[in-house]
Amino acid sequence: MKGKVIGDILVVKKDVENPETFLELPGVNRVVKLGRIKGLKREPEVEVLLGDGTETIHRENHCLFKLDVSRIMWSKGNTTERKRIAGLVEKGETVVDLFAGIGYFSIPIAVHSMVDKIYSIEINPTAYDYLCQNITLNDVPDRIEPLYGNCRELAPVGVADRVLMGYIGNTHHYLDVALSALKDEGGVIHYHESVPDKFKFIRPVDRVKEAADGFEVDILNKRIIKKYSPGVYHVVVDAWIRKE
Ligand SMILES: C[S@@+](CC[C@H](N)C(=O)[O-])C[C@H]1O[C@@H](n2cnc3c(N)ncnc32)[C@H](O)[C@@H]1O
Repeated sequence: MKGKVIGDILVVKKDVENPETFLELPGVNRVVKLGRIKGLKREPEVEVLLGDGTETIHRENHCLFKLDVSRIMWSKGNTTERKRIAGLVEKGETVVDLFAGIGYFSIPIAVHSMVDKIYSIEINPTAYDYLCQNITLNDVPDRIEPLYGNCRELAPVGVADRVLMGYIGNTHHYLDVALSALKDEGGVIHYHESVPDKFKFIRPVDRVKEAADGFEVDILNKRIIKKYSPGVYHVVVDAWIRKE
């Protein structure tokens, strides 16, 4: 079977002969085909092959994530990273999630750690709406403050023990935002990048060090999250930065 199960929906990329046969898969009630990404809004062509609608609730690591599979991405390859980050957060920390999406990292942190507060910033209105719903679904409104808009304008300054940069694109353009979000004494940045195999870890580490020029930087961890495309990896670097 070529496809992934998100909540109760099997998402496939190609036509399937008898979608009913997939109802035998555990938890699957619906089958949705996502086609090519088209148009200015870069949304995929959607065909519901079996059942109704494309909104579902996905469960992972005792967290609930409501999303519309036709409008919001869900990456199975990031499961380990979502768990790992939640496990790193210590009691009383303040976290700033610059690219929160529907709460991919913020929700597991709020559910599993003794975090004090997470500022979760999201620019996409659909993702932001699901982020707010997921905060309620997981009953963590006292731990997460959602902020709608561009993290460059909304990120709080000088508050964070930890900053999450879980976005791949021009993530390095936001390293200055992450640095200013950190407390005066400093803290940890989780910096994501998509990078060709031969530069993996070299380029992301260089970019973090360059952005933090003048500060002491300790690279705590470097890991491949998943293969992004042929010869390109999605990697994350954990960097501890002392600002004073
Ligand atoms: C794709 S999600 C991250 C996916 C996540 N790493 C996972 O586990 O699947 C990244 C989010 O960052 C948001 N985003 C991109 N640029 C932003 C900005 N400047 N400020 C706030 N959010 C932004 C996007 O809308 C998107 O929802």
